[in-house]
Amino acid sequence: MGTVVDAANKEANRSVLTNKKVTVVFVLGGPGSGKGTQCANVVEHFGYTHLSAGDLLRAEIKSGSENGTMIQNMIKDGKIVPSEVTIKLLQRAIEENGNDKFLIDGFPRNEENRAAFELVTGIEPEFVLFFDCSEEEMERRLLSRNQGREDDNIETIRKRFKVYMESSLPVIEYYNSKGKVRKIDATKPAVEVFGAVKALFTPLNSVPTIILSHVSA
Ligand code: ADP
Ligand code: C5P
Ligand code: MG
Repeated sequence: MGTVVDAANKEANRSVLTNKKVTVVFVLGGPGSGKGTQCANVVEHFGYTHLSAGDLLRAEIKSGSENGTMIQNMIKDGKIVPSEVTIKLLQRAIEENGNDKFLIDGFPRNEENRAAFELVTGIEPEFVLFFDCSEEEMERRLLSRNQGREDDNIETIRKRFKVYMESSLPVIEYYNSKGKVRKIDATKPAVEVFGAVKALFTPLNSVPTIILSHVSA
């Protein structure tokens, strides 16, 4: 059971383990919907730090970690790596970074990811940026991504789409029921998508609106 301090930390979006106050935006959407592409734009324009769960897992494989083979097999099969592993990587990245604003991309990917992250860190997202894209378009993009990824082949792509529909969409629905989802039409060209993304981040950075008093004639 949480202590009074845990509850207070949660209220302030302060990580229970790090006591660092952070703003987190979850960036979700199907594989190839453009999450990484748009996160790079938000980093450039709004000073967030981009943490891609997939990138962190791929770096963990490269580092020769004891979990490397397990992670590699799961990625190749389009499966979701146990939350414990991914959360540890995210938590470390948050702690080691001097910034206090993070885009967490591709996480939470299922209910286990979501509940465990909230429990362990006490962090709730400011909002959830959801890139809505047709499967046909996502498949086209993944097949021409050309980053040498072992999971960008048609067999794994089909598995990833299935996992997305069955496990990831329910998480988006969960946040939607809490009024946290900001849905973007991600099928459009990248520049247009960023136009819509920009509009969501601008109010967070803008100075308070000056209220002009009405002067009657
Ligand atoms: P995700 O991180 O959601 O898997 P990426 O950002 O890696 O997706 O994008 C997948 C591929 O699609 C990349 O090759 C990227 O350049 C391309 N791409 C991203 N956004 C768009 C877009 N709006 N229109 C066309 N291609 C896009
Ligand atoms: O988001 P990205 O496409 O880079 O993710 C690639 C793969 O990494 C996923 O298909 C999945 O196997 C793994 N992953 C995961 N848990 C996450 C994010 C990614 O297991 N939260
Ligand atoms: Mg990505």
